[in-house]
Amino acid sequence: IWYNTERQRIPEIPEKAEMPIYLQKRQKRMLTSITGINWGDEGKGKICDLIAPEFDCVVRYQGGNNAGHTIVVGDKKYGLHQVPSGVMYPDCVSVIGNGCVVNPAVLLEEIDMFEGDGISTANLKVSGNAHVIMPYHVDLDGAYEELLGKNNIGTTKRGIGPCYQDKMARIGIRMQDLMDEATFREKLEIALARVNPQLERIFDMPAYTVDQICETYLPMAERLRPYICETGLLLNNLVEEGKEILFEGAQATLLDIDHGTYPFVTSSNCTAGGAVTGSGVGMKNIDRVLGIMKAYTTRVGSGPMPTELDYETSDEGRTLTEVGHEYGVTTGRRRRCGWFDGVIARYATRVNGLTDIALTKLDVLSEFDTVKVCVAYDCDGVRYTSVPEHTAAFARAVPVYEELPGWKCDITGCRTFEELPQAAQDYVTYVENLAGCKVSFVAVGPDREQTIVRDWNK
Ligand code: GDP
Ligand code: IMO
Ligand code: MG
Repeated sequence: IWYNTERQRIPEIPEKAEMPIYLQKRQKRMLTSITGINWGDEGKGKICDLIAPEFDCVVRYQGGNNAGHTIVVGDKKYGLHQVPSGVMYPDCVSVIGNGCVVNPAVLLEEIDMFEGDGISTANLKVSGNAHVIMPYHVDLDGAYEELLGKNNIGTTKRGIGPCYQDKMARIGIRMQDLMDEATFREKLEIALARVNPQLERIFDMPAYTVDQICETYLPMAERLRPYICETGLLLNNLVEEGKEILFEGAQATLLDIDHGTYPFVTSSNCTAGGAVTGSGVGMKNIDRVLGIMKAYTTRVGSGPMPTELDYETSDEGRTLTEVGHEYGVTTGRRRRCGWFDGVIARYATRVNGLTDIALTKLDVLSEFDTVKVCVAYDCDGVRYTSVPEHTAAFARAVPVYEELPGWKCDITGCRTFEELPQAAQDYVTYVENLAGCKVSFVAVGPDREQTIVRDWNK
């Protein structure tokens, strides 16, 4: 047997001890999907960690360690790449679903970090069908980027694209293959017969041997074995038991391989639909989709971004970057910043079928006398109120702005919507109307506590 059947058993899930009042109001059991609205880093980790106590299970359904989700609790800060943000609550089952790609070394590092901090990972489950990121995927990611030259995607160079490429070509190596040495060696041999000539002849990089990779991967496989499980079965059993599940998206709508700004995207379906294929849970079960939307726009990597403000020449752009600490959790790169883009917000509402929005980092806008919001694009003289499908049009989109009054005061201590200054309330209502979806949470700081729960359980 290639993995521990013990892990297939549904763990006992105790009743939640201390449930915050706002969470107690809920009438109905439901499965919720969280998804990023823009180009990532909207604060998915923070919101997921905030609402995780409502759920019995949190599932990552796509992406790999290209994600960097920050959780701040008091003076402790965690940057998670592989494990779901529910891991902070050991009673909550954390699942890395079949739609994910997994770097075993990074996953083990995170497990060790949590165990070292006294946070148990006993309830972490990893799908036997998730694909394994191999060292050559990382090499090829860098090599392909170099080949693209000035047209590079600006990937995280974590091997995500090449790993998904192998998956789609049906030659990938899955976690279950890694659990059986003979299968792993056999699959690896075939993979290297294809990869090594590429590395050596095209990119002038060193080749790999089967033994060399086995030496590092097989010991990691042994450590990961207790976590591997048929997560599709586990999740559907939880659904049948009436347990509540939260799906935690990584990346975001405009980085989605189908609905994003292709080719400047990641290699998975980050939009809400990915929760279904990436987990094995049927879509009739998901009755709420929560989009995480920043109060302004950021992007890491290449590709068009209509509202971008140049860091070097725009004071406003620099203020957003520095006040918002807009530096990547995964690669440390400075994020490109710009004003809120209402066209993207509306698009994301449609593509994901949003029922709720969490508007994050509103506190960062407290710096400004007035705040701009993009309400439409002008593309070569044509007005667009939806994201143009044609890449060239989107690349030339000039934002049409509305200017709203700022509030110029510290809002990080506000805990109810009414405590926000009127101008900040008006801003939230304005973007809500633009997006066409209600804003149920407003985040006013990085800490779990710094959140206004406005309209979540109604
Ligand atoms: P994710 O990838 O969507 O989970 O987001 P990241 O963690 O990459 O980036 C979001 C950053 O903003 C992190 O540093 C968070 O701690 C921080 N953050 C989240 N919400 C807020 C907020 O409302 N205000 C401020 N100032 N920071 C926030
Ligand atoms: P979270 O989950 C922001 C971007 C990269 C690059 C493109 C493709 O923290 O929001 P990849 O390595 O996936 O092939 O890179 O996608 N990217 C992200 N940008 N946040 C992320 O994750 C990202 N994951 C990938 O910068 O432009
Ligand atoms: Mg991030």
